[in-house]
Amino acid sequence: MKILVTGGAGFIGSHTVVELQNAGYEVAVVDNLYNASPKVIGRLEAITGKTVSFYKVDIRDREGLTKVFEQEKPDAVIHFAGLKAVGESVRKPWEYYENNINGTLILTDVMRKCGCKNIIFSSSATVYGDPAFIPITEECPKGTCTNPYGWTKWMLEQILTDLHTADPEWNVVLLRYFNPIGAHKSGTIGENPNGIPNNLMPYITQVAVGKLEKLHVFGNDYNTHDGTGVRDYIHVVDLAKGHVCALKKLEPGSGLSIYNLGTGVGYSVLDIVKSFEEATGVKVPYVIDPRRAGDIAECYSSPEKAEKELGWKAENGIREMCEDAWRWQSMNPKGYED
Ligand code: NAD
Ligand code: UFG
Repeated sequence: MKILVTGGAGFIGSHTVVELQNAGYEVAVVDNLYNASPKVIGRLEAITGKTVSFYKVDIRDREGLTKVFEQEKPDAVIHFAGLKAVGESVRKPWEYYENNINGTLILTDVMRKCGCKNIIFSSSATVYGDPAFIPITEECPKGTCTNPYGWTKWMLEQILTDLHTADPEWNVVLLRYFNPIGAHKSGTIGENPNGIPNNLMPYITQVAVGKLEKLHVFGNDYNTHDGTGVRDYIHVVDLAKGHVCALKKLEPGSGLSIYNLGTGVGYSVLDIVKSFEEATGVKVPYVIDPRRAGDIAECYSSPEKAEKELGWKAENGIREMCEDAWRWQSMNPKGYED
């Protein structure tokens, strides 16, 4: 079975390529390298010992994408390609709607014209907004997003659902990720944010490696056990394996399926700082700053549905997540530029 991975040179996509190849799938990658390095492909091949068919193509390039489909004839698509920076999406809403929505419309149009109607889509816990209840199950109503990036996920879930409703030959899996962190054990692939990181773990690793002076903790007056925001952090390799398990929901007649991919455990910002220091022996200085606009107090999953129906469960704990994030950052202080 051949899987086409859009955005396969990015953080989650690259880790998923490894797990797909380890599980015996053939893989082709499409990525425009907007937020990824061409070095990733060589590193993937070094990890798995297998070749990766790589196409530097933008998913909005209908002609280029059609050629890839004609050449590769994939059975299914795992669709990671998109823009993902929350703050940037507030400043550049048009660019986010254009890339994420238009890109997915063109991708799915090319797919149906080429007879491939199986897709796994990278959604996000952000679609729950300020969640109606915690732990968040898949039945939790979708909420109001606080930024254009979140709305693109919300809308794309709806678009893919409508495609399936109109044409039941479409098999669609919506995977709602919680907070992916960590890196492959080899330390050769990992998260490589442009500029100053928005997300907690890359910020911490850059403080630890000396690139940034101190962590700014966004608020300590939330209604949580220590006042700082609580999230469900998941090791990116566990998340990647979740995609391999989700492929079974693309069998003919599977229809539409939705799964949370999280651990079910919530950690506060200060819990993460402490876990990182314990796992690595490196101190992370921090200051308390005001709350960040749009943040919620607490967000963690119920991962039960994925365990029951996909046989998938996150295996790595917070220690491994911190150790592996640190191995990647300390072996590659400048990311893929080294
Ligand atoms: P990433 O930026 O590392 O990977 C996305 C990849 O898509 C990049 O390599 C980029 O070059 C590529 N890309 C972007 N637009 C493209 C286009 N038009 N054509 C071809 N390639 C394009 O991000 P990631 O963290 O690996 O996230 C992967 C997916 O998961 C994204 O859709 C993201 O929104 C979603 N997601 C991420 C998180 C997270 O915290 N990292 C959480 C929930 C959901
Ligand atoms: N935080 C800090 N300082 C920082 C960065 C983050 O205190 O420098 C705090 C935040 O306030 C929050 C927690 O750390 O309480 C996690 O923040 P992240 O920015 O790492 O992650 P978010 O939960 O805000 O959002 C992430 C992705 C979204 C995705 C969501 C759910 O950025 O795209 O997880 O999957 F939708």
